[in-house]
Amino acid sequence: MKKSFYVTTPIYYPSNKLHIGHSYTTVAADAIARYKRLRGYDVMFLTGTDEHGQKIERRALEEDKSPQEFVDSIVDWIKDLWATMDISYDKFIRTTDPEHKEIVAKIFKKLYDQDDIYKSEYEGLYCTPCESFFTEHQLVNGKCPDCGREVERVKEESYFFRLSKYQDRLIKHIEDNPEFLMPQTRQNEMLNNFLKVGLEDLCVSRTSFTWGVPVSFDEKHVVYVWLDALSNYITALGYMTDHDKDFKKYWPANVQLVGKEIVRFHAIIWPAILMALGEELPKQIFGHGWLIINGGKMSKSIGNVVDPSILVERYGSDAIRYFLLREVAFGQDGNFSNNALISRINSDLANDLGNLTSRTVAMIEKYFNGQITNKGHASPFDAHVKQTIKNNVELMEDSMEKLFFNNALEHIWNIIRRLNKYIDETTPWILAKDPENKEKLMGVLHTLVEGIRIVGIMIEPFMPTTPKKIFEQLGITSAKLTQWDSIHEFGLIKKISVQKGDNLFPRIDLEKELEALEAIQNPAKESEKEEEPSITIEDFSKVKLKIGEVISSEKVKKADKLLVSKIKIGSEIRTIVSGIAKFYSPEEFVGKKVVVVTNLAPVKLRGIISEGMILCAENDQGELVTIAPEKDIMSGSTIK
Ligand code: ME8
Ligand code: MG
Repeated sequence: MKKSFYVTTPIYYPSNKLHIGHSYTTVAADAIARYKRLRGYDVMFLTGTDEHGQKIERRALEEDKSPQEFVDSIVDWIKDLWATMDISYDKFIRTTDPEHKEIVAKIFKKLYDQDDIYKSEYEGLYCTPCESFFTEHQLVNGKCPDCGREVERVKEESYFFRLSKYQDRLIKHIEDNPEFLMPQTRQNEMLNNFLKVGLEDLCVSRTSFTWGVPVSFDEKHVVYVWLDALSNYITALGYMTDHDKDFKKYWPANVQLVGKEIVRFHAIIWPAILMALGEELPKQIFGHGWLIINGGKMSKSIGNVVDPSILVERYGSDAIRYFLLREVAFGQDGNFSNNALISRINSDLANDLGNLTSRTVAMIEKYFNGQITNKGHASPFDAHVKQTIKNNVELMEDSMEKLFFNNALEHIWNIIRRLNKYIDETTPWILAKDPENKEKLMGVLHTLVEGIRIVGIMIEPFMPTTPKKIFEQLGITSAKLTQWDSIHEFGLIKKISVQKGDNLFPRIDLEKELEALEAIQNPAKESEKEEEPSITIEDFSKVKLKIGEVISSEKVKKADKLLVSKIKIGSEIRTIVSGIAKFYSPEEFVGKKVVVVTNLAPVKLRGIISEGMILCAENDQGELVTIAPEKDIMSGSTIK
């Protein structure tokens, strides 16, 4: 019988503004699911939507819809998004599914009957966007410690879950099972910030709104949305029903992926509920980092979200998936930028992988009319190529077990780069000049197609559509040559007929594309540009601009963004405070010629009077760059 493997993503709050950050969790889960299927596992990959709670009820109201109409209008859109990103989930659960609701009510009743849930009164603070309870001293500047938004005071009759009762068992479980909560840093966070500080019982029902699962024995209460949502991981398997064969087969989950901001719910509340139910705990909770933009979390309320469907439409889902898992070490935060995305597509996909394939296929067509066999002679470089492949195959498999996706991809690319180097070493175009070398040339091209075949199999968990294209061009049709185990054997191709196809990844003109993307992603900015009124030369001449020279500079105390500098402007010396300390150190700033606005009214910044402004431009990484004269020019010179 096949071994089973169960992987889950969090269930998403319904929103038609899911962004590239959201797709990150799902793409990662999909890569694991596909990998495990290739390794012969019977995989269950679950995702879905988290549709109850006060936040959804309010959003529906804003759109003048019933909550059910509101969520129904969005779920198909989310499913479409996952389809365009080739997400191969096996089951999509909605918390409004009737069966899920029934089981949640049963779970609540069972916990109540066994006195793990009791009735009391809740008085405290609630953050609706996070659907999370806080005490006064947990707030940061009076706001939600997680999202920084306003909290509301609530006082209601409530049911409580005896979370505190499980504190010691939870601590022990995390300490005894180092793989349970990954990466390791999350263990310390949970132990030191929550578990060892002491857990309070958790409020698990609300009465001030109705959009949720009613408590079966006290209908003015609805079940707290996180208890409802977390249960999805087992209700989806038919837990507590008469058709629970999936639960028996797949539970406990092998890995549950979550973003770092919801690790607390998954590594404390969720296992405590399972303990109370007498069920096994998941083998692993993995808390990945955030995709950030210019140093801040991508978020709808900040308005810096990147729509994955635009990117998928332009570059294909394989390229986006590759980028997400290659660019950032899974577990850490990583920056997203259009520049980084396009640069990687050009270097890793178009240059390394795309060229390797098209050069190889083109040479086989040119020198052997498209036909290649295993009858050639080995070159002196073959042994090293084979060893490189063997080593990197092992390392890649090992990285996948640990969910180190970026390392896994790095190992695949070591093979790709080694193969490109092999072309330069063996110089097939020189071999081709002498008919005596026919066998040698055949041997070189055979080694290349073998290498590409192996790469084609290894990239599949990340890039599900590219392998097919590669195998088509190589003329590989036999399943034996494309299944996972065949990557451990070099030299399986006996005879193939290649056929050149389209470039796998066309090169992108970086500058043009960045402009085009900017226009699509920020249409508002574009139209602002058009509507901006023009100014006259008189208006412009009101701004006095001069060349200055930085003669000294230091950091402003307790302000990590600010530098205070003395600027020589002709015979005059001015003090100017600028928000560039993140981009220039005082040492590198001194001696620079800069452009200064000299007639700006002085302002006081951190107690220092700033007499002017230094001009900067912002690059697409969000870094400030000072504007400098193109030739050397005296300080004090007027700019006009
Ligand atoms: O939290 N970078 O749902 P959600 C990386 N319904 N990951 C990000 C991200 C970013 N910028 N923004 C969001 C919920 N995510 C609950 C879960 S589970 C029982 C209930 C990830 O729609 C986020 O970390 O707010 C989470 O893993 C997922 O998107 C869904 O977030
Ligand atoms: Mg969230």
